[in-house]
Order: sequence, then C-alpha cells, then structure tokens
Amino acid sequence: MAAHTFYSSAPLTGRLRVPGDKSISHRALMFAGLAIGESRISGLLEGEDVLATAAAMRQLGAQIERLDDGTWLVNGAGLGSLVEPRTALDMGNSGTSTRLMMGLLASHAITATFVGDASLSGRPMNRVIEPLSQMGASFEASSGGTLPCMVRGAFPAVPITYRLPVASAQVKSAVLLAGLNTPGITTVIEPVATRDHTERMLTGFGAKLEIGEDSGERVISIHGEADLTAMDVTVPGDPSSAAFFLVAASIVPGSDLVIENVGLNPTRAGIVTVLKQMGADIEELNAREVGGEPVADLRVRHAPLTGIEVDPAIVPSMVDEFPVLFVAAAFAEGTTVCTGLEELRVKESDRISVMAAALTAAGARVEEQEDGLTIHGTGGEPLRGTSNARVKTHLDHRIAMSMAVAGLASKDGVEIDDTAPIATSFPTFMPMLKDAAK
Ligand code: S3P
Repeated sequence: MAAHTFYSSAPLTGRLRVPGDKSISHRALMFAGLAIGESRISGLLEGEDVLATAAAMRQLGAQIERLDDGTWLVNGAGLGSLVEPRTALDMGNSGTSTRLMMGLLASHAITATFVGDASLSGRPMNRVIEPLSQMGASFEASSGGTLPCMVRGAFPAVPITYRLPVASAQVKSAVLLAGLNTPGITTVIEPVATRDHTERMLTGFGAKLEIGEDSGERVISIHGEADLTAMDVTVPGDPSSAAFFLVAASIVPGSDLVIENVGLNPTRAGIVTVLKQMGADIEELNAREVGGEPVADLRVRHAPLTGIEVDPAIVPSMVDEFPVLFVAAAFAEGTTVCTGLEELRVKESDRISVMAAALTAAGARVEEQEDGLTIHGTGGEPLRGTSNARVKTHLDHRIAMSMAVAGLASKDGVEIDDTAPIATSFPTFMPMLKDAAK
C-alpha cells in the first residue's frame, strides 16, 4: 500500500494530454485480436486493466507486441480460432476485460477460468452469465455469481434477442461479442443508451451491425460468423481521466488549463454538460474526429460552482465520473442532489458509500441515499482535509483520484491509504498533476 497526502495546490496551468480511453483500448485489443491480419493501435492506454486484456488475448492466441514508439501491433487469431488458455485468465481489477471476454469465449468451443483481485472478485457476473447461458455457454461461478468463474463456451451458440435489465455497456458488449461467432442474428435491446464504442469499432473491423430504434429503445443487431479484418485504430484521450483535471482546475483558484485530445462521444461526455450546468468554465477547442470518435481540446478555468439537481437521465453518459462530480459539488455554493445511481454500488467499490465516507472524513457535509448522494457545498471555501483520518480507497482507482483532487483545495490535505490502484486506468496521473500545478 502506498499512502499519500494531497495538499492545497498552486493553480493548474499549461497543457496536458490524458492517456488513451480505457473502454476503447480494451475493445481495440480484443477486436484486433479476433481479426485476420495485422492491426496497429496508437494511443493505447497502458494501464493495468488494459494490459490484463492484452495478456488474456495473447493466452487466447493473438500475437500482440508493443513497439518502442508506443504503437501496438496485433496479429489476430481469427474469429472462431481462439485457442484454449493453459492457465487461468487473470483480469486483475478489470470488470470490462472480464465481462467482454466472457462474451467472446461464450461462442467458442473453449473452457477458461477467470480470476481477479479482491475488488473484482466481489463484483456481480450474473448480469453476463444469464444472457450468455441463454446462448448455450455454461458457467461455474463462485457463490453469488462472482469470480473465480469457469466458462465453457458453446459452438455453435444460439442467437438470442436480449433486453438489457440494467443500463450496462459491458453487458451489451458481452452479448454482441458472443453474437460475433454465433450463426444468425443476435439482438440487444437497450432501454437506455450506453456507451457505443463496441458498435462503432466493430463496424470499423467489418462486422455487420444494424442499429435502429423501437418505441424509444435502441435495438442493435449483429450478424454472426462475421469475418473481422484488421484495421488501424487511434485511441482518443479518456474523458473519464480528463474529468479529474476538469474538476481540479475548476476548484483551485487561478487555474487555467488545456486538456488536449479528449474523447467527447455523446455517450460519455455527461460530465462536461453537468459541470457546465454548475457554472464551470469549460471551452471546447479544435473539435475534430479521431478514430471515428468526436474529440476536442478542453480549456478549463477556475470558476465558482453552484449546486444543482443532476438529471438521472444523464447518468449512463457519466457513470464513472460521479466520484469526482461529488468532489466538485463539495466546493459548490448550495446543495447538489444526485439520484439514479444504483449502479455505482457495484463498481470497483460501492462508490456511493465509499465516497460518502471519504468526503465526510475530509470535512464535507453529505447525505447518503440508497440510489444517490446529496452534497452540501462549501461555497468555494477549502475543505478541512482529513487531519487524523485516512481515506480508504477500497482498491478503486477513481476513489483515489477523486479524493486526490479534493486534497488540492483543502486546508490540511487529504490523505489516501493507497495510490497503487491509480495505475489501473491512469498510470501517469501523479506526475501530470505535479506538472500542471508547478
Ligand atoms: C465500461 C462500461 C461501464 C463503465 C466501465 C467501462 C465499458 O460499466 O463503468 O468503467 O467499457 O463498457 P457498466 O457497463 O457496468 O456500466
């Protein structure tokens, strides 16, 4: 464990470039690993979660190599030609790697065991086990539907039509990936739209998808037994990583920071909308497209924030950004009310109760509800800081980074128990923060 205290900061200034998008990086490695031919991936996030995906794809037969200039070369195993791994697939902390790869394996005649760290081993897998079992795969999970879990894929699997009971891009993607190697057409119905990187990128790799709408619900169909063809992917910067700097610069007086190359896919950009509603000064510069995704540079300047009621309809487009939004709210004038956050309880940690405890330890006033959090802001005054308490991060990178940001505008500093989990999604967070606050 690497404890660290984050103290009151100088203004954040200059320009920085956050690492590649985690969701897109996972998908790039997986789809390239299934395609025929050589794909080059640039801008790949080299965080532990994505490296777990790379290692697992290698175990399944893909050839994956990192060049000295940071480009990744992938020679795919070919859809339908994955090999059975000789040892367990260690997914570390990564729910996305686990759930998407369970989907991949479900329609291959392969048996594999998934294992993970203490956080991942407590997370629910029944949400993918259920639809993938309907397609013919079988699972032996630990009690409560958790890892370690053995998967026995089915070939041929059976195409299904599946209506998502929870708004989850991971579940959607697991079913679509199983559908890739399943004869016929597999359909997912999404009552609430979630991030659409799988649909965008699979189309790029040559899969045939149809995306429509029926009574306000998104309907996504994939034609099975596709041939994926190698392609080059440029991964845009991760808006979920940029969010920590958007909030940091908003709450530290005097800040004026440009965050370059931030992915702004509408299914991901909710945090920018909500921060602007609170009065944040965020300008989108140089809007362009990178790797089939909308991207811009974001200029953010310190500004007084005001508490708001966050529309629950926006939750899926910023589901990972609530911990840092709670921090922004802790410095706002007035009260911020967040509801519709049930899914936060099953992320890398229970992000409602862990953030409630962390913010309280740092001197903020919050009230926890079953599906949300109410935060009474300081009106721009610094938080007290943790003094004798230490924030427990529960192996959750986003708790660690969010509370680091809170420390930047605190009187006594915020001590977190462990910075190590930050490496799962943003290994360069600490040096970048130091650099921006020089
Ligand atoms: C992800 C989907 C989200 C998100 C996770 C990444 C993805 O999870 O929280 O960090 O890449 O598909 P859910 O699908 O469980 O909401």
